[in-house]
Amino acid sequence: MPELPPRLIRVLGIESSCDETGVAVVAFEAGSQALPRLVAQALHSQIDMHQAYGGVVPELASRDHIRRVLPLTTQVLDDAGLRRSDIDLIAYTRGPGLAGALLVGAGVACAMAMALDKPVLGVHHLEGHLLTPFLSVDPPSFPFIALLVSGGHTQLMRVDGVGRYELLGETIDDAAGEAFDKTAKMLGLGYPGGPALAKLATRGDPQAFKLPRPLLTGDRAATLDFSFAGLKTAVWTHLLKLGGTADAPHAGITAQTIADMAASTQAAITEVLVNKSLKALKASGLERLVVAGGVGANRSLRDQLDTACARRGVLVHYPELALCTDNGAMIALAAALRVQAGRATPTRDYAFDVKPRWDLASLDA
Ligand code: KG4
Ligand code: ZN
Repeated sequence: MPELPPRLIRVLGIESSCDETGVAVVAFEAGSQALPRLVAQALHSQIDMHQAYGGVVPELASRDHIRRVLPLTTQVLDDAGLRRSDIDLIAYTRGPGLAGALLVGAGVACAMAMALDKPVLGVHHLEGHLLTPFLSVDPPSFPFIALLVSGGHTQLMRVDGVGRYELLGETIDDAAGEAFDKTAKMLGLGYPGGPALAKLATRGDPQAFKLPRPLLTGDRAATLDFSFAGLKTAVWTHLLKLGGTADAPHAGITAQTIADMAASTQAAITEVLVNKSLKALKASGLERLVVAGGVGANRSLRDQLDTACARRGVLVHYPELALCTDNGAMIALAAALRVQAGRATPTRDYAFDVKPRWDLASLDA
């Protein structure tokens, strides 16, 4: 008997948890453990729309997801040379995120799946970030320590496999991305602040201002938790001392001083992230680190982690730069890896719900 060609399982992923509409197709061979590959993806960022407001306006985000999600799906399927009926599974971000924004992706995914008689799977957004390095040219292997740094979360996890996540530490107040964004806003850099602050920091002196490194020293030095709220206050205090006002903290301050503050802020955030990641590696005895989430795109963080980890013989993995921030590929990939690992139950029950607040460590508990 001639051998049948391997059957490809194609997963359509839809991400709509915040200010990016992402759609992608990821494929893997049925019955094989070979890593899924990205077939096609498309993304629409709402940054321009929210910029005028200095942050994400949830109602506008939801409406824009509605406008974008079907055209993006058509574009992705066209790029992949697929018809809708070629899709085997539709995955969507079930949470965490903005409730209205999540409902758009979930609603569209379930309606499309129902019309096509295909199963659906709700995916945890952070699991998507966490697993994205498996799409890179240099994918990690389990077990590893994951540093998850996004706009809403900062967590260190021990990852022993798909769905096997142990929370080791997390921020007790602001997330790292939030610290970038809030400081950037004070410095007059607009939204989203992380990339803008990082760009300006290349022209500044990281040692110009002494900013706090919370939980790095003293009796809480051993904790794997983070705290970034004090950093924001310290920057604020410096700016007011330099002549800024409560309404416009950066007003009247020279461009070089603002660049120095950006560099000093970035240095403080990255030093804390690197220090705690190394502590987690040491405490666990693991020699592999995976960095995921939007802040993982930060060049300075990558450089410092590379240097520190190389010194200790630790391997570091990052997602492709374009897949660090929110996208549909990470959602399709997480669904594909879960199905491959036998840790998902896609369903034809299309009565969906979303989980705006959802703890990753509790997923498979
Ligand atoms: O993962 P993500 O796209 O969305 C969430 O799930 O939150 O992360 C967005 C966050 C924002 O806070 C943004 O400012 C930050 O990632 N970010 C960066 C950089 N690129 C994105 N922060 C520092 N440096 C960057 N290059
Ligand atoms: Zn995200």
